[in-house]
Amino acid sequence: MSVNQTVNLDKVQEIIERHGGNKSKLISILQDIQAVYHYLPAEALKTISRLLKIPLIDIVSVATFYRAFSLKPRGKHVATVCMGTACHVRGAPKILEEFERQLQIKKGETSKDGEWSLESVACLGCCAIGPVVVVDGDYHAHTSIRKVPNILKKYRK
Ligand code: FES
Repeated sequence: MSVNQTVNLDKVQEIIERHGGNKSKLISILQDIQAVYHYLPAEALKTISRLLKIPLIDIVSVATFYRAFSLKPRGKHVATVCMGTACHVRGAPKILEEFERQLQIKKGETSKDGEWSLESVACLGCCAIGPVVVVDGDYHAHTSIRKVPNILKKYRK
């Protein structure tokens, strides 16, 4: 799936219908749309607004409140390197550089093939197991430069 994939509004409508066209299911609807596109395309949010009669601004507020949602195109896989103080002193900057080198993208970017996005975060709240890297929601503890290829391999299958 490429980053520039066009948005299938029938698919968006189908997701909304699957949730009974119910306004109170907005977060579940957004989760399902993000599961398909790996982010929340503007056209999809406009469709939700029109069909559920929720002001677009309210939908965007929800989408920006939750860190799990992204309004920018994201890769199929998201690697997040913790750059908080505890991880930083244990080598997180070098680990981030290694991810950049292996994925050939910079922090904040998504690969052209739409496979990977690379992000960083201030602190994941589990400093004792740092340096920590999260890939697709899986926590990788005590990470090192040497472990980066194996981590990536796991998701490249
Ligand atoms: S600094 Fe990385 S988990 Fe806290």
